[in-house]
Amino acid sequence: MLSRKDNEYLTKVGPGTPVGNLFRRHWLPALLSTELPEPDCAPVRLKLLGEELVAFRATSGRVGMLGTYCPHRNANLFWGRNEEEGLRCVYHGWKFDADGACVDMPNEPPRSQFNEKIQQTAYATAERGGVIWVYMGPPDLEPKVPELEWTLVPAENRNPSKRIQACNWLQNLEGEVDSSHANFLHAQLGPDRRPIRNDARDEDLHPVFSVLETDYGLAIAARRDAGPDKYYWRITPFMLPSYTIIPGTYSDAYTFTGAVPRDDTTTIGITVTWSSQHPVPQRPFVEVDSDFVPLQNKSNDYLIDREAQRTVSYTGIRGVRVQDMAVQEDQRGPISDRSREHLGSSDTGVIGTRRRIMRQAQALARGAEPPQVHSPEVYRIRSMAVVADRHVAWQDLMREHMPVA
Ligand code: FES
Ligand SMILES: [Fe+2]
Repeated sequence: MLSRKDNEYLTKVGPGTPVGNLFRRHWLPALLSTELPEPDCAPVRLKLLGEELVAFRATSGRVGMLGTYCPHRNANLFWGRNEEEGLRCVYHGWKFDADGACVDMPNEPPRSQFNEKIQQTAYATAERGGVIWVYMGPPDLEPKVPELEWTLVPAENRNPSKRIQACNWLQNLEGEVDSSHANFLHAQLGPDRRPIRNDARDEDLHPVFSVLETDYGLAIAARRDAGPDKYYWRITPFMLPSYTIIPGTYSDAYTFTGAVPRDDTTTIGITVTWSSQHPVPQRPFVEVDSDFVPLQNKSNDYLIDREAQRTVSYTGIRGVRVQDMAVQEDQRGPISDRSREHLGSSDTGVIGTRRRIMRQAQALARGAEPPQVHSPEVYRIRSMAVVADRHVAWQDLMREHMPVA
């Protein structure tokens, strides 16, 4: 449970908010590279940390990220002409390059140097792993892009996808660090109409949670009994500010999730499946429309099928990620009221995650920079799902299984 005040502190991300400032110290994955497929293609509008932006790929291939409202008289640059290394406002022709400089002002006398006084908001961008990243913090403190493994493998070995989620980013993140929900929310039903428990690992429904503070954020461990002398360990890395990797591999592939705040009540969900070893299928994680809104969504009750819920699955909702969305998008609304929660021992990871973010935001407000943003190599980490003898310490298992070689 959190006080109303702390809940507000943790969830709000607009300009000037403490957690918004923390996000602004990090590179944020925001667009798929395929949204800007070629030089001088149509610009794309987006919202990030509550700010309205327009992205364009210039003639050179460089991605520009500008405030969307023209500094002349506030027309929307989304209507702009993307030509010759800049985006031109269609109202009176002012043109801006990717740095936000006004490079042409054709409706003013040629010798006027008014254009030199105009600077449009412009944010730094980087392209890694088939994703366009944005840095919205102070330019002189620009960090390096985190060295997540999926940004380092060949294109065919990764499958980035994107969806817009209709809730605050923290609800999405909390779902990722809560590994006890999988046995329920995502369970399939057997012929007896009870959740299928495949083996001893699934039988233990109340894992013991521990958290360990790390240089990238937290390692969140869930320990289940797996027979008389073994434990089943699932360890989720929580990487600041809001990134996680689902524990376990699916035929050698891992899955990353970034819960990137679009504004206070919507989230850009970036999910990437990747393998260091082999190509992975290129398909969307959830079916979305051209604006990345999932086809199964709140307005159609995620197409819940009550008969299927009686007979084949715990939720009756198709798709693991949609099952997550159904519960995350309405926890007393799009911003959960955490003053009304009752947290148990299975919420240890959720509590640790909140504390880690809050403490960094408070430290930043006092002037302490978040150290991980200048150490991109600490993000070279994987998740872990391993059965081991009970006497083996989980910290040793982590050292063996989690670092990317
Ligand atoms: S409003 Fe953009 S050029 Fe006038
Ligand atoms: Fe889930």
